[in-house]
Parts: sequence; structure tokens; C-alpha cells
Amino acid sequence: MRTILKSKFVILFFTALAACTPKPESPANQEPTTEALQTQLIERGEYLTLAAGCDHCHTPKTMTPEGPVPNMERWLSGFPEDGQMPQIDRAALEPGYWTLFHPELTAAVGPWGLTYAANLTPDETGMGNWTFDNFRKAMQEGKHKGLDGGRSILPPMPWQAYNEAFSLEDLEAIFAYLQSIEPIKNLVPPYVPATAL
Ligand code: HEC
Repeated sequence: MRTILKSKFVILFFTALAACTPKPESPANQEPTTEALQTQLIERGEYLTLAAGCDHCHTPKTMTPEGPVPNMERWLSGFPEDGQMPQIDRAALEPGYWTLFHPELTAAVGPWGLTYAANLTPDETGMGNWTFDNFRKAMQEGKHKGLDGGRSILPPMPWQAYNEAFSLEDLEAIFAYLQSIEPIKNLVPPYVPATAL
């Protein structure tokens, strides 16, 4: 009888002790920190940027036997300011002829003229001074530099397709990613209309 009482007491004692010990927070109950949320946003933006192939046009390339591969030193920095343009076949300015692409895919010529892929890095020669609203206007309304009075963004930038595909949250993630990458100083040459070529 004494031993039973004693063991009951021991059980009671440990139950009381367990009740007093604070439970460790399970990770699911913890609020993610602002920093963790920002990292998640940037990672999602990177995924969307890669999936949407922004680098195909916005990153200069190195030629290999397998074809052009992105030059990671110039990731998303647009047509190089010192880049060379091969001679332009003027027939490409007529509708119905081929569209010409620069061998590095960072510039294109068609009936709209000559367009150079923009510098998307956070340098001041790129998108360093852009607000999210500038980016949204460029991606949803095709406004050059995201300015209301700006000219339309021209081919081959497929902003109409991106406007269909991306939600506002997607654009926020892509912008967060683009603002987090290495800033690269590169002043892309201005667009040349067909009449000036
Ligand atoms: C098929 C080629 C191509 C792809 C793919 C592409 N772009 Fe572009 N982009 C261009 C070209 C060329 C321009 C310049 C157009 C002009 O000057 O009117 C441009 C312009 C832009 C501009 C406007 C810059 C400014 O100064 O107004 C933004 C922003 C932009 N691209 C972001 C992106 C993002 C983000 C992606 C991926 C989601 C992307 N682009 C994919 C070719 C492309």
C-alpha cells in the first residue's frame, strides 16, 4: 500500500512538473520573420525570372559549340554599352521579312526598328532608381521606364504575355529578386526607330 501511494505521488509530481515546463514552440506556430519572408519572396522571384526566360534576351552570352550560354558576370545587364552590332539587313524593316536577332539575343531588328534589351540590375544605369510602380507599369501597361508619358515598350519584349500570366504578387516577387542581384553598370544604347536606321 505504501509503495502504491508513493508511486502515485511520483506520477503526480512529474505530471505537475510537465505542466509547468513551457512547451517548445513548434516551427509551424512561429511567425516567420520579415527577413525570412523577404528571402522567400526573392526566391520565388528568381524562380519566376528563370521560368519566364528573362535572361534569354536580357543577359549577354558567351558562344560555345552548343550555342550561346548566359555570361553570368553580366547577368540581366542588357545589351552591353560597348557591344558590337553586325551589319543590319534593311529588308528586316519591311513587314513580312525575317526579324533579326543579335547573335547574343540582346538586340533585335524588325519593322518597329532596333531595340536593345534593358539593364534589369539595380545599378542606376539599370533599374536602381525604379519604384515597384515603375516596374508594374512597364510589365502591365508596356510603358518604357514605367513612366506614364513614356513610349510603348516594343518587341521582342513580350510584356503583353507577361501581363496575362503574372499576378501582382508575381511581379512583386520578380521585382524583389531583380533588386537583390548584383548591380552592373551598363548604359544600354537607346532604341532606334525604323525611319532612323
Ligand atoms: C524575347 C526577348 C525578351 C524577353 C524574353 C524578355 N525581355 Fe524584357 N525587354 C526586351 C527588349 C528588347 C526590351 C527593350 C524594348 C524597348 O526598348 O522598347 C525589353 C525591355 C524590358 C523592360 C523595360 C525597360 C525600360 O527601360 O523601359 C523591362 C522592365 C523588362 N524588359 C523586363 C523583363 C522581364 C522581367 C522579363 C522576364 C519576365 C523580360 N523582360 C523578358 C526583350 C525581352
